[in-house]
Amino acid sequence: MWSRIVASLAVLTISVTSSPVAPVDNLNRRQEIPTATLPACAQVSVLLNDNEAPTDAPQPTEVPADLAHQCLLSIPINATSAKAILFELPLYLNWQSTLDVLKDPPSEYVEKVQGPIDILAGLDDISAAIDKGDIVGEWEFGWALYKLLGAAHDGHLAYILDVVGLIFSFNRPLPLVSVSEDGSKLPAIFAYSDVLGLQFKNISYTPSAIVKIDGQDASAFLEDLSQQGSLQDRDALYNNLFYSLAQTSLQNGGSGTGGFTGGGRGRYVPLKANTTIDFANGTTLAIANTARTYFNFQNITSGADLRRSFVNDGNAIAKTFRPDLITPVSVLSAQAAAPPPGYPVPVVPGPQNLINGFYIDGPGYENVAVLQVPSFVSSSYAELPFQATSQKFLQKAWSEGKTKLIIDLQANGGGTILQGYDLFKQLFPALDPYGGNRFRYNSAVDLVGQAFSGVVSQYPRDAGLKNATLRLIQTSYFDYHTDQTVDGKPFESWAQKVGPNTVNGDDYTSITRWNLTDVYIPYQSGINITGFSNLTRWKSEDIVLVTDGYCASTCSIFSELMTQQGRVKTIAFGGRSNSNRIQAVGGVKGANVYQWSFIQQYAVQAIYYNETFQDSALKEYSSEKVINRGYGNGINVRDAVRLGDDSGIALQFKYEEADCRLYYTPEMTVNAAAIWKAAADAQWSDSSKCIGNGGYYNPSNARRAAQGKTTTLSPARGQMHGAQALRQMKALEDTFSIETEYQIEAGDGFMQP
Ligand SMILES: *[C@@H]1O[C@H](CO)[C@@H](O)[C@H](O)[C@H]1NC(C)=O
Ligand SMILES: *[C@@H]1O[C@H](CO)[C@@H](O)[C@H](O)[C@H]1NC(C)=O
Ligand SMILES: *[C@@H]1O[C@H](CO)[C@@H](O)[C@H](O)[C@H]1NC(C)=O
Ligand SMILES: *[C@@H]1O[C@H](CO)[C@@H](O)[C@H](O)[C@H]1NC(C)=O
Ligand SMILES: *[C@@H]1O[C@H](CO)[C@@H](O)[C@H](O)[C@H]1NC(C)=O
Ligand SMILES: *[C@@H]1O[C@H](CO)[C@@H](O)[C@H](O)[C@H]1NC(C)=O
Ligand SMILES: *[C@@H]1O[C@H](CO)[C@@H](O)[C@H](O)[C@H]1NC(C)=O
Ligand SMILES: *[C@@H]1O[C@H](CO)[C@@H](O)[C@H](O)[C@H]1NC(C)=O
Ligand SMILES: *[C@@H]1O[C@H](CO)[C@@H](O)[C@H](O)[C@H]1NC(C)=O
Ligand SMILES: *[C@@H]1O[C@H](CO)[C@@H](O)[C@H](O)[C@H]1NC(C)=O
Repeated sequence: MWSRIVASLAVLTISVTSSPVAPVDNLNRRQEIPTATLPACAQVSVLLNDNEAPTDAPQPTEVPADLAHQCLLSIPINATSAKAILFELPLYLNWQSTLDVLKDPPSEYVEKVQGPIDILAGLDDISAAIDKGDIVGEWEFGWALYKLLGAAHDGHLAYILDVVGLIFSFNRPLPLVSVSEDGSKLPAIFAYSDVLGLQFKNISYTPSAIVKIDGQDASAFLEDLSQQGSLQDRDALYNNLFYSLAQTSLQNGGSGTGGFTGGGRGRYVPLKANTTIDFANGTTLAIANTARTYFNFQNITSGADLRRSFVNDGNAIAKTFRPDLITPVSVLSAQAAAPPPGYPVPVVPGPQNLINGFYIDGPGYENVAVLQVPSFVSSSYAELPFQATSQKFLQKAWSEGKTKLIIDLQANGGGTILQGYDLFKQLFPALDPYGGNRFRYNSAVDLVGQAFSGVVSQYPRDAGLKNATLRLIQTSYFDYHTDQTVDGKPFESWAQKVGPNTVNGDDYTSITRWNLTDVYIPYQSGINITGFSNLTRWKSEDIVLVTDGYCASTCSIFSELMTQQGRVKTIAFGGRSNSNRIQAVGGVKGANVYQWSFIQQYAVQAIYYNETFQDSALKEYSSEKVINRGYGNGINVRDAVRLGDDSGIALQFKYEEADCRLYYTPEMTVNAAAIWKAAADAQWSDSSKCIGNGGYYNPSNARRAAQGKTTTLSPARGQMHGAQALRQMKALEDTFSIETEYQIEAGDGFMQP
C-alpha cells in the first residue's frame, strides 16, 4: 500500500451499513410503556432491544432525539480521566499550524469569515469548569472540547471524543434546499421533497417557502446552525446544510442529504424531540427528530452503566458495537459506478463517481466539456484510475472540439495532495506549480526531524528500496531531502529546513515545496505526476472552476494553482440569502492533515532511532489516553502560502471573492447539467448573470422572496429519474451520513508496509 500524503476532509474509519428504521410513530407508541420511569439510557436500551419482537425482525436502530440527548447528559464525568486528556491535548494541538494566528487573526478574516479563538486558553476554561462543577457529564466535557476546536473552523482540526462521536447520530429527516425561483430573485428555503414533487408532478398543493424553523426566522436559524460545520466561510457553511447533488454523488463520502438533516458534522449536534417548520402559506409541520446508534445498548441500565461498558479510562478500548451497523472500511473497487442521481451518463466515467467527464446535451453547449471532480481520492485503490480519467477525458474532449472546459469542484473536500498538482500539470504543463507550505515550529517537529534526517542520510533515495520502514521515513517531511526550497533547490540540512523563522511574531519552518520529480512521488500519491510536456490545450479564459464553497484541502491547493498561476476564473454557487459576493473556496486552505496517531508514532519512532531523545519532549507522546478516546481527530500541520506574497499570512486567513456568484435554482437541485449551463452562460456569454454584477440583480424581487410570500416554484426540467432519486435520498437518510470534515487515514497508517 502507498503511504499517501493527504489533505482531505473526507474518509472515515468506520462506515455504517444501511439498516431498516423503525417508524417514528412506533417509537412514540413504545415510549408510553412503563419504561418512561426508567433512566434515559435504560429507556434507550429497551427501545433498541425489543425482546418481544419476532426473532427474525430487524432490531430498531433509532430512538427519539431528546431521549438520546438525555441519555448522553446522564453519563457521569470521570474528572481524573478528563483532566488527563486536557493535559495531553496540547501535545497534539501544538502541531496545528494556525494555533497562534487563531488567537488574533487578520482583521478582514475576523470581519468577514470567523472570529478569534484561543484554543489552549479554552482548555484551561474547560478544566476550570470541571473544577467548579459546571461540567458534570462526560458528554458535556466532550461537547465542550468539540465546540472549542470547532471554533477554529478548520476542517483539518478535530477531536471528537468517543461519547460525542460514537454513541448517537442525530437526524432531522427533512432535507432542504435554498433556491432562487429564477436565478435572480433572492434564494428562499424549501423542502426538497416539494421540489421533487414538482418534478414528478404528483403533488396537489403549490409548494411554499419555509419561513420559520422552531419559531425563529428560517434564514437566521440556518445561519446559526451552519456555524456547527467545519468550513470557515459562512456562505459555504450555509450551502452545506442543504441537499446537494454533488454531495450525494459521493454517497458515503459526502455530507449526505445536508447538515440540516444531520449530514456531515450535523450529526453530532443534539436535537430536541421535534423541529417545527412554518411555511409561508400558513401550514405548520412538526418533524420528529431521531437519533441512531452504533452502540449495542443491551442491558444498559443508566448513564453510569453506559460509561462503564463504553468508555474505558485506561488505554484499552472495549466497546460493544452492533455488528449489523458497523462495517470496516471496505476496499472499494476502482470500477465506474452507475451515474449518480441528477447526472447524465458520463462520456468518460471515473472510479466510483470520484471523477467523471461529461458533455452537455442541448443546443448552445456543444463546445463545452465538464470535468466533475468532487474528490481528490485519498484511497489507494483509485489513485491510478482517477488520474487516467482526466488524462483520457481531457484528450478526448479537446480532440472532439470542446473548446470550453468547466471543472466542477462542488463538494470537493480534498484527498491526495499530489492529485491536485497532477490535474493542474495536465492543464498547464508549462507551469511549475508553486504550492509553498510550512509547519508551525514546535520542539517535537524539530526533534523528529533531527532523528529521521539523522537516520536516512546514511541511505540513498532509491525507488527500489525494499526496507519499508526506511522508505516511510524517507518519504516523510522529517527527512530534509523530501521537499525543495522556494527556489526549487534541495535543502542542505534539517536545520535549514526547520528554521525556525519568525513570521509576524510566530515561529515557522522554512517554506517548502513538493519536489514533483522525487523518486518517492509514487509512494506519496500512488501516481507519477503527468504533464511535463509542452502540450497546452485550453487557454486560461476557456476554463472555469465551479464551486459551492465546499472546496477544501487538496481542492484549495488545486484552486490556488489554477487561479494564481493558471489565471483561471471561479464561479461560486449558492450562499446565504443576500446579493453579496461570495468566496469560491470556503473550506480549509491548509496544505496537509495528520491523524493524531501519526504524530504519536512519529514521536515513538524518533526515540527508537535516536536514543538521545529518550528524555526529551517526545517522551510525553507515549501515553495513549487522548488517542484512544478520540474517535475522530486531525491536525492541520501545514499552512499554504501564496507565490509572491510576502505578507506571511497563511491562505487560511485570506478572504477572496469568486469572480462570479450564481444562485441555485430548483432545477439545479435535480439536474446537474442546469448548473453547468448557467456556469457556461455566465463565463462565456453573459457575465451580467453574475449576482451583484451589472445591475442584473433586482432588489424589489429580492425583498419579496425574502419574506417568502411570493416565491413559487415552477416544475424543474431536470433529468433525474424520480424513483432513483428518492431511493438515493432514502438510502442516505437510512445511513449515517459519513463524516466528511477531517481526514482519517484508514488502512494506510504510518509504519505499515
Ligand atoms: C477514572 O479514571 C481513572 C484513570 O484516568 C481510573 O483510574 C479510575 O478508576 C476512574 N474512575 C472511575 C470511577 O471509573
Ligand atoms: C403549504 O405548503 C406546504 C409546503 O410546500 C405544503 O406541504 C402544504 O400542503 C401547503 N398547504 C396548503 C394548504 O396548500
Ligand atoms: C414537540 O416537542 C415538544 C417537547 O420538546 C412537545 O411538547 C410537543 O408536543 C412536540 N410536538 C409535536 C407535534 O410532536
Ligand atoms: C445481557 O443480559 C443477558 C441476560 O443476562 C445476557 O444473556 C446477555 O449476554 C447480555 N448481553 C450483553 C451484551 O451483555
Ligand atoms: C541524535 O541526535 C543528536 C542531536 O541532534 C545528534 O547529535 C546525533 O548524531 C543523533 N544520533 C543519531 C544516531 O542520529
Ligand atoms: C530497515 O532500516 C532500518 C534503519 O536502518 C533498520 O533499523 C531496519 O532493521 C531495516 N529493516 C530491515 C527489514 O532490513
Ligand atoms: C528531486 O528529487 C530528485 C530525485 O529524488 C533529486 O534528484 C532532485 O535533486 C530533487 N530536487 C530537489 C530540488 O531537491
Ligand atoms: C513512475 O515512473 C517510474 C519511472 O518511469 C516507473 O518505474 C513507475 O512504475 C511509475 N509508477 C507509477 C505508479 O506509475
Ligand atoms: C518545451 O519547449 C521548450 C522550448 O520550445 C523546449 O526547449 C523543450 O525541450 C520542450 N519540452 C518538452 C518536454 O517538449
Ligand atoms: C411521487 O412520485 C415518486 C416517484 O414515483 C414517488 O416515489 C413519491 O412517493 C410520489 N410522491 C407523492 C407525494 O405521491
